[in-house]
Amino acid sequence: MSLSATSAGVSGRIDAPPAASLQVKLGRLELPNPIMVASGTFGYGREMTDYVPVGRLGAVVPKTITLLPRRGNHPWRTVETTGGLLNSIGLDNDGVEAFLEKQLPWLADCGAPVVVSIAGGSAEEFVGLAARLDGVPGIAALELNISCPNVSHGVDLASDPEMCRRVVAGVREATRLPVLAKLSPNVTSIVAIARAAADGGADAVTLVNTCLGIVVDWRRRRTMLGNGMGGLSGPAIKPIALRCVYQVAQAVDVPIVGVGGIATLDDVMEFLVTGASAVQVGTVSFTDPSVAGRLLDQLPSALAEAGVSAATDLIGSLTPPGATSAAAAPPR
Ligand SMILES: Cc1cc2nc3c(=O)[nH]c(=O)nc-3n(C[C@H](O)[C@H](O)[C@H](O)COP(=O)(O)O)c2cc1C
Repeated sequence: MSLSATSAGVSGRIDAPPAASLQVKLGRLELPNPIMVASGTFGYGREMTDYVPVGRLGAVVPKTITLLPRRGNHPWRTVETTGGLLNSIGLDNDGVEAFLEKQLPWLADCGAPVVVSIAGGSAEEFVGLAARLDGVPGIAALELNISCPNVSHGVDLASDPEMCRRVVAGVREATRLPVLAKLSPNVTSIVAIARAAADGGADAVTLVNTCLGIVVDWRRRRTMLGNGMGGLSGPAIKPIALRCVYQVAQAVDVPIVGVGGIATLDDVMEFLVTGASAVQVGTVSFTDPSVAGRLLDQLPSALAEAGVSAATDLIGSLTPPGATSAAAAPPR
């Protein structure tokens, strides 16, 4: 007997289940699918076209831009660790005007929604950048990098709930674009910060940026990174990122983008089930730049295995610890 998508009633063939819908929503931002790429790990997109069908991605988030060009931190800027990567790039970028002139034209035509990541040293700088980008064709949303650990005070805006609320609210006033607030795991209560972002009007929160760490060369009695501290990413931080997604999903009514150590389809599914509406693929792109495209290709079969007809059916379907599992055996 052949499996086909034709009607079983006519030929006696078995209908293949319709492909699950991949569309997801992050507040006002609609994505064709939940597979995004993380800021700072995918360049400006153009470099990746040999490896990834960039135009099919759920969204591209290019390297964070600032109002003025930044040179970034002293080398070394990256060190491999067990199960991860420690980086201290320091938001090296050419500034917003160079981005608009040199990077956005290609991005705007790439086919995927473009979420522009912005950072500033103060709420006013974020607001100024948001105002500059408002109405610029080709931008689908803004992601506020209020959580970069590699610039002085970079993480402060994501450590204090009131400052977080203020910067998000200011940006919301300054632009009609959907706003994602990218938060730091280096806080006592991720829930308090996510709630503040939601109160400020964030369409979604991106969880998480890198975890603060250092790597030491004891023989030289020196830290390996030129800046001393850096941000840890990669598989080592996946449980931390998942925990943040879990805590926020349980407590705050705001869509979540999960990011941290995602490299396989199981990782993607874990984040969706835990409460993320979309995911970002980051550090793994440095070792295998084709991963994001592969995850996108594999997603429909995982959704079929989960027995859902839409990616949205999976979001936050995790059985709370201690409760009887309703989904112990997925329908086949
Ligand atoms: C080399 C490097 C540069 C990064 N640059 C940025 C950046 O410019 N803006 C930002 O929001 N996050 C940046 N990140 C953080 C990632 O977007 C992501 O949040 C983090 O690495 C966790 O995901 P991962 O473990 O999948 O890499 C950077 C990460 C790395 C490894």
